Amino acid sequence: MDKFVIRGGNPLVGTIRVSGAKNAALPAMAAAILTEEPVILENIPDVRDIRTERTLLVSMGAEVELGYGRAHHRTTLCCRNLANPEAAYELVKTMRASTLVLGPLVARMGRARVSQPGGCAIGARPIDLHIKGLEQLGATITQDHGYIEASAERLRGGHIIFDKITVTGTEDLMMAATLAEGETVMENCAREPEVSDLAVLLNKMGARIEGAGTSTIRIQGVSKLHGARHRIIPDRIEAGTFVIAGALCGGDLTVSNCDPGHLGALLKKLEECGVQFKTSENSVRVTGGHALAAADVSTEEYPGFPTDMQAQYMALATQASGVSAITENIFENRFMHAQELVRMGANIMVEGSRAVVHGPAQLSGAAVQCSDLREWRRLIFCNEGVIPNPDVELVRRNGEGHALLLLQTKTLRPLESGGADSSLRSE
Ligand code: EPU
Repeated sequence: MDKFVIRGGNPLVGTIRVSGAKNAALPAMAAAILTEEPVILENIPDVRDIRTERTLLVSMGAEVELGYGRAHHRTTLCCRNLANPEAAYELVKTMRASTLVLGPLVARMGRARVSQPGGCAIGARPIDLHIKGLEQLGATITQDHGYIEASAERLRGGHIIFDKITVTGTEDLMMAATLAEGETVMENCAREPEVSDLAVLLNKMGARIEGAGTSTIRIQGVSKLHGARHRIIPDRIEAGTFVIAGALCGGDLTVSNCDPGHLGALLKKLEECGVQFKTSENSVRVTGGHALAAADVSTEEYPGFPTDMQAQYMALATQASGVSAITENIFENRFMHAQELVRMGANIMVEGSRAVVHGPAQLSGAAVQCSDLREWRRLIFCNEGVIPNPDVELVRRNGEGHALLLLQTKTLRPLESGGADSSLRSE
């Protein structure tokens, strides 16, 4: 999609359903490499990275079957014949999570050739911890011509202590260790719900993993894994994004099919800001139009405040009374949205890893650029606009008020007539 045109200024009223988690679906698809049997994944979101990963798996020889009609969120992957255990630069450069195939490939095929990802809009994003961990599991790794080549007759269990908490690093090595000989203990692991979801899938496939969701994960290697069926957890970042949209745009919005238990740090912070919401087992109902108060935020690994919600929170902070200090601790270059918000009238000063937002600001139309997947969503909240490319530019049009956000193929159903009639169209 090249361009969005958003008619804003209307309250968000209705119910919006959250998709499956992209960052849980990506490792789950890579996990299919570990077995010759089909892995059936439900609740797969229809986003670009998922399509890229399908292309990547197909390029290796995987058979992929997509559900249709009511089953369109189902993907069946069968990696019986993997002729080409390689992830080429052309694919890896567009999706850094491609490195998730490294561990599964070397575990199942005994070899892997995966392009190094290179730079990224939000920071350096090295994969040294994936490589170091695989070496500790007995893989021989060489780096040549921009590619990482890993080989091992059979991986063996090991003791891995991550120097730094890494989400995909934890997932990559957890997958590799499932087929290693003996026990692997991993310490200082990521505790994200996506890691736990992957462990649930792997255990359904016959793996023996304990402790996922805590800092220490123990894996007893098995010689073979089998097929399984699994439903991907809801996307907590998408859910949080909609909650902030509801708080900003006014109205009465129910964000359904989510897990509020995964939104703890965000909801606590929003409560501090004066956002009015109620949670149920699988939804958050947010009513907007209330006065917002500034509050400081620091991004942290789960269960802390997610870096993937930092940009959206900054949009909220522009409309809150007072000074909000936002500190980014996970990625080195994740404030590119700040200057774009400034062009729309926000008062934000960035110094190193800290952004100071003075609010509330009256926003007005401007062309802005979006370089980060998560950022363009936030920019849409701020008013009417045109995004000539979600990754490139967003141009606001006339008028004031807040934008309605409709992402992907979502529709917002008004609860009563005269409800949400904000619009977003793509060009
Ligand atoms: N790091 C290293 N060495 C490594 C790996 C990571 O130094 O080998 C550093 C990174 O540079 C960063 C920190 O560790 O400073 C954390 O990075 P992490 O590895 O946890 O990030 P990731 O696994 O590449 C995942 C999500 C990101 C999300 C981050 C942080 C997926 C596919 N991606 O990335 O999601 O921002 O965790 O929570 O799970 C997104 O969905 O848009 C997105 C960027």
